[in-house]
Amino acid sequence: MSDGVNAAKQAAGIASCDFVTSGMRVGLGTGSTVRYTVLELGRRMAEEGLEIEGVPTSEATAALARELGIPLLEWHQVSELHVTIDGADEFDPGFNLIKGGGGALTREKIVAQASAAMVVVTDPSKQVTKLGSFPLPVEVLQFGWEVTARHLGLLCPGEVSRRGGDEPYLTDNGGYILDCHFGATIVDPAGLETDVRGIAGVVEAGLFTGMADAIVIGSSAGVELLLKPGGRLGR
Ligand code: A5P
Repeated sequence: MSDGVNAAKQAAGIASCDFVTSGMRVGLGTGSTVRYTVLELGRRMAEEGLEIEGVPTSEATAALARELGIPLLEWHQVSELHVTIDGADEFDPGFNLIKGGGGALTREKIVAQASAAMVVVTDPSKQVTKLGSFPLPVEVLQFGWEVTARHLGLLCPGEVSRRGGDEPYLTDNGGYILDCHFGATIVDPAGLETDVRGIAGVVEAGLFTGMADAIVIGSSAGVELLLKPGGRLGR
């Protein structure tokens, strides 16, 4: 990753912390951009008296949060989170996302679903007019994954490949990731999300529709904030 991209991710990650105030329960996303959010939340807790509790979207994020002293909640301790902050691999003008490049999409979606709002941290390279150039990650059960892949192939015009090939990548849930090469052809993200989730063996699709309320885009020029019109953080 170039220094410029890294700086953009850091700027977005830090700026997103402005959505967090003391007393909040916060969903902590996964990936190299939101890592900067988690680091900054840890810093504000240590140095500025911020008091929050978190729910992590992956074992990696849980480990980082523990290192930083961010208290983590179990699901039986929480019904709703105030906000979740997470990265994305692509976002379109309708605030639809492709996520799961880091393999954590199922837990990310569960945490986002439990949150009153979702803030996405990105850089300009993730902004597209139509989703799909980034291969859509789909988590599937190991059982019968070849059949699940064939059914996904009926929806996907390009290759469907198991991440890791013969040494398959395993998610925190023990699933496989199938990367579906749609190309920039996804005209109906919500419809495709429903169709993918309807295939037996699919645990979750890396399409997030109707979930993101704000997108924080870091770049060398500064930070841009997009608020979804009519969204849960809209002004
Ligand atoms: C993790 O599974 C993903 O959804 C990430 O949030 C996404 O891949 C963005 O990651 P980066 O911030 O590392 O680009």
